[in-house]
Amino acid sequence: MPEDTPHLTVVRHPLIQHKLTLMRKKQTPTSDFRRLLREISQLLAYEITRGLPMTSRRIETPMMEMDAPVLDGKKLALISILRAGNGLLDGVLELIPSARVGFVGLYRDEETLLPVQYYFKVPEELGDRVVIALDPMLATGNSSAAAVDLLKEAGATDIRFLCLLAAPEGVARMQAAHPDVPVVTAALDEGLNERGYIFPGLGDAGDRMFGTK
Ligand code: URA
Repeated sequence: MPEDTPHLTVVRHPLIQHKLTLMRKKQTPTSDFRRLLREISQLLAYEITRGLPMTSRRIETPMMEMDAPVLDGKKLALISILRAGNGLLDGVLELIPSARVGFVGLYRDEETLLPVQYYFKVPEELGDRVVIALDPMLATGNSSAAAVDLLKEAGATDIRFLCLLAAPEGVARMQAAHPDVPVVTAALDEGLNERGYIFPGLGDAGDRMFGTK
């Protein structure tokens, strides 16, 4: 699969790649893992917000007046896909403090293997916002595609998906279900194992960031 398409951007910046390698190492402790994820989330946010509309505003510097660039007031919503999305949320929110925040909770039914919604709380006027969905791991793509379904049902029309690692299977699933949703990631890994984990990957992102294993 080609790495950079209108649908997929792999951000190969050296700082991101170095930090990601540290995160992948199984010896990396929880506190370092969380800090690195937060740092990378900000670098990825820089990329995913690249095309935001701009306008200009007349301001006065100590030297003179000028027309200076500012964001065009397009409202943003950050949507954390629980629970691992929370590891990306704080870093991105620090860069975009005025963004509204929502949460989508999905679990996988072990019999049907389909995602089941257990929590959904998102900001109002989702249709007027640039919506950035956050989930570190785009693995099978089933829960990501289901989360985007829910966001669209709630009115979102401009959605972007920010993740740390993607598997080709997840990218293909998202592209088939939501070709209008661009995906930004730090790496496209080799594939999925039989349990749906990304390899080489970094293991269970939630467990590694919260120390639950
Ligand atoms: N979720 C994870 O936390 N890790 C994977 O490898 C896949 C899904």
